[in-house]
Amino acid sequence: MSIKSASWQTLWTNVNLATMTEGAKGYGAIENAALAITDGKIAWLGSEAELPSFDANSVNVIDGKGAWLTPGLVDCHTHIVYGGNRANEFEMRLEGKSYEEIANAGGGIVSTVKATRAASKEELFASAFKRLSALHQQGVTTVEIKSGYGLDTINEIKMLEVASDLAKSLPVTVQRAFLGAHALPVEYKGRPDDYINLVCEDMIPQIATNKLADAVDVFCEGIGFSLAQTEKVFAAAKAHNLPIKVHAEQLSNLGGTALAAKYQAMSSDHIEFLDEAGVSAMKAADMTAVLLPGAFYFLRETQLPPMDLLRKHGVSMAIATDANPGSSPICSLQLMLNMACTLFRLTPAEALAGVTCHGAKALGLSSSKGQLAIGYDADIACWDIQQPAELCYQFGVNPLQNLMKSGEMVI
Ligand code: NIG
Ligand code: FE
Repeated sequence: MSIKSASWQTLWTNVNLATMTEGAKGYGAIENAALAITDGKIAWLGSEAELPSFDANSVNVIDGKGAWLTPGLVDCHTHIVYGGNRANEFEMRLEGKSYEEIANAGGGIVSTVKATRAASKEELFASAFKRLSALHQQGVTTVEIKSGYGLDTINEIKMLEVASDLAKSLPVTVQRAFLGAHALPVEYKGRPDDYINLVCEDMIPQIATNKLADAVDVFCEGIGFSLAQTEKVFAAAKAHNLPIKVHAEQLSNLGGTALAAKYQAMSSDHIEFLDEAGVSAMKAADMTAVLLPGAFYFLRETQLPPMDLLRKHGVSMAIATDANPGSSPICSLQLMLNMACTLFRLTPAEALAGVTCHGAKALGLSSSKGQLAIGYDADIACWDIQQPAELCYQFGVNPLQNLMKSGEMVI
């Protein structure tokens, strides 16, 4: 028995690996492979022909029967904690109203705010649990959940606490983003700067002190907050050592992405209207572009994100569901893989990187998640497929065979 293999607890044999290591070509594939796990981390991987000898009595050997392993999927942008739903606005849009018109008429985000404020923590938990379970059943092991439907201190904290509770109830790593600057609550109508002061001087300090969020997000947009207001929130987040990210350039080009780059944001999300200057600012700050094909599809947008510019400048592209009641009521990262290819023309390898290594990077987790590599968390999805492109190609039949979280089989 070699020294290296002495401490292995679990060993996958007879598998193919889409390692998705950053910078690898395509899927970073290793066919006819094996992968070993110690203490919840990947301890060895490679061609099965090179497998070191091991003590079969002390290692739990799993015969993968030719399946493919990928990193557990990362959904790096969701809003799955909310009250009520907005099916009525879906109907209104089908009768001719636009997303912005509905928002300006008191619907949109603020109508979900009403329902979220009225909901108890238990009610919010119960509905979000169903959404998170749906993501998990499709291979998600890491998810980001945003606040942003409370819009006052008590209700923003309530949402973040529900997100923390979800992390204890399912084997999924939950990163919480504070999105107090999501929309202007009705009681602050005409006083956006006063609301931004509340976000910066009351909410962020309390949330930071009580470690209720892992990052701070802002909706920088005509129907959200201006550049100056966004900058105030970034400065407050930085003062409390919280990383930042932004919803920007979704409906217009305000320059939110370039501003976020100045503050070393982890990501800029949506970015349909981003120009080349913004893309190069992202590259300079090593930001990740989070593309959200579900919102593009559901709002029937026509302006595509600048994929060619992102490729030209070598900006990492993540893909996420943006699961939320208004612009993307979709809890399927598998569907996003398909849409990233059909709507945004990503290659299947780019799309899969978007929900693995680049999704992890968007959350600041690129040294522990999103790749099959030695020392990485053994969050592993096992798929009943013949080739990785199938994950993007067929939709509606769940190919997930098993799911491992920190080396434990959870599905
Ligand atoms: O990511 N852009 C802002 N926020 C969400 C929409 C939220 C809503 O409509 O409830 C988004 O698309
Ligand atoms: Fe969003």
